[in-house]
Amino acid sequence: MSTDHLNIEFALHQIPERLLDESKNPKPHVHSIEKYNELYQESISNPKEFWGRCAKEFLHWHKPFETVLSGGFEHGDISWFQEGQLNASYNCVDRHAIKDPDKVAIIYEADEPGQDRKITYGQLYRDVCRFANVLKHHGLKKGDTVAIYMPMVPEAVIAFLACARLGAVHSVVFAGFSSEALRDRIKDADSKIVITADEGCRGGKIIHTKKIVDDALKECPNVKRVFVFRRTGSDVPFNPSRDLWWHEEIEKQRPYCPPEIVNAEDPLFILYTSGSTGKPKGVLHTVAGYLLGAAVTFKYVFDYHEGDVHGCMADIGWITGHTYIIYGPLINGATTVLFESTPIYPSPSRYWETVSKHKITQFYTAPTAIRLLRKYGREHVDGHDLSSLRLIGSVGEPIQPEAWEWYNEVVGRNECAIIDTYWQTETGSIIISPFPGAVMTKAGSATVPSFGIDLVILDPLTGQEIKETKAEGVLAIRQPWPSIARTVYNNHDLYLRTYLHRYKGYYFTGDGVGRDSDGYYWIRGRVDDVINVSGHRLSTAEIEAALIIHPSVAEAAVIGVHDDLTGQAVHAFTTLKPHCESTDLGELTLQVRKVIGSFATPKKIYVVKDLPKTRSGKIMRRVLRKVVDGETDQLGDLSTLSNPTLIGPLIEAVKNS
Ligand code: WT7
Repeated sequence: MSTDHLNIEFALHQIPERLLDESKNPKPHVHSIEKYNELYQESISNPKEFWGRCAKEFLHWHKPFETVLSGGFEHGDISWFQEGQLNASYNCVDRHAIKDPDKVAIIYEADEPGQDRKITYGQLYRDVCRFANVLKHHGLKKGDTVAIYMPMVPEAVIAFLACARLGAVHSVVFAGFSSEALRDRIKDADSKIVITADEGCRGGKIIHTKKIVDDALKECPNVKRVFVFRRTGSDVPFNPSRDLWWHEEIEKQRPYCPPEIVNAEDPLFILYTSGSTGKPKGVLHTVAGYLLGAAVTFKYVFDYHEGDVHGCMADIGWITGHTYIIYGPLINGATTVLFESTPIYPSPSRYWETVSKHKITQFYTAPTAIRLLRKYGREHVDGHDLSSLRLIGSVGEPIQPEAWEWYNEVVGRNECAIIDTYWQTETGSIIISPFPGAVMTKAGSATVPSFGIDLVILDPLTGQEIKETKAEGVLAIRQPWPSIARTVYNNHDLYLRTYLHRYKGYYFTGDGVGRDSDGYYWIRGRVDDVINVSGHRLSTAEIEAALIIHPSVAEAAVIGVHDDLTGQAVHAFTTLKPHCESTDLGELTLQVRKVIGSFATPKKIYVVKDLPKTRSGKIMRRVLRKVVDGETDQLGDLSTLSNPTLIGPLIEAVKNS
């Protein structure tokens, strides 16, 4: 791991004046570094008091809890608010619909500009109730899993909340996944119902959503019902013995459905994510702890105030969408934007048109989008009224100082809080980020831990905590926090091995990290075989497994290579089976798209005679990385390489590709 940055002084950016000016800005909830320190210290030294208080403040309990926290990392039996009972959809919808039915809950910014639509809390309540009744009528019960494979339409949010209303578990599959990936996730989670749409629209293109579902379901005999929302109205395949139209079904149901009161620790959802193995893991979150993590970070990190319009540009198919489009905002009774399009459709001004049209106050996107827009140039930003913005955030991958500065200057006009938020599917909510109004920033650093996050840096080899402020190592957490994932669906042992037993006594994030002399954290990226392409988390093992299915491929090794636009790009090395002289690279690419989805497409595929391996047969990806980076004079220790003569031809193959 490189340590040269440790000696560089990174300039501190002051908190923008505007944020502290009460005539222009509501007073930040955490308005000084002293306030942050006080709350943070309390959350660490007395987590039961801190979270117990938050749980009463942020959530409505149908039955109060008695025990704030029990269990821990050793057995992975963490439970928060054990005796408490509640309902997620009641918390997100009913209580706001009762108090202020006309308040806008969702602003739907459709793919085509001008087709936006607003949904109030009152409407959302009725729609969720109606659709929950539909699901109930078709036999859905508490604890059942439902797969949701939908475009970014309000009905997707309604689907989430209708499941939660019945105590069912949603398993959302990002609509960019292929039919095979969808099939595997439906099977793994035992989903018996699928909720989808006829087609999706994104960036002016049509996605054949229903057709992909049909292909997936060829091998899912347990799926008895598919609900199809009509997004485009095109003719799509329809199986009358299994499929039902959303619009026809809801007409039959009354807009009242009592919420199923569930236990605090009952599951709320499963969300698949990639790890070091070839098989995605179904990360499971439970109701109360997850909702609390989402709610508290939404209020304090995004500094939410009544009247704000929250614009999170993520997709609901990823954790960012779950937590900061849906649950965080709705628990707080906020107005949330659902953005169906892309940053460059129909032009690279789309984000800024959207901000000015809806008067977005908090804007949240990924570094890959910021890099893309920076490349198009500031003329697409300038001239749009961005004065509503108080805070602009970034998530998903490290943000380079240049991209950070551009975001600050061009989008934030040096008067917005910039928050680089670090977290994971497994953490449920933000765990490192500046608190606007309290924490000065540094371009490229996610800065300081969120409440209740007891961060440590471990020596990767010994597992010992590095106590010095200036440190470099792997990022881990010493105490449970409410929104930590509770298990991997149907594989608790994998959960324990991956997160809790790797370094005994700690939750292990899988990321390398540095801490500078001010105690600021700098995320370095994954230390496992996970790569990050445009903020999408991909497993090298999963892509390798996809390539190997191809009849001509003998072996495959995938690495992440630096890419100016996407952060990392997928590069794949393959060897061919003995009878194959050559292969069609297009077919190999297709293979990955078919098994995973187009976002995992390799940027480069090299066909080589042999892969560098240790004598015990382990592929040395480090060598492949160096060869691609052109650092062939720095291949490191090759003494364990079983066949040193392959290096020359390997370098040639990469050069000639
Ligand atoms: C991995 C988690 C949680 C949001 C979306 C991704 C990387 C995430 C940052 C950041 C540097 C980041 C990490 C992490 N990551 N945010 N601000 N700076 N790296 O969720 O798919 O579960 O991926 O994304 O490597 O482990 P995810």
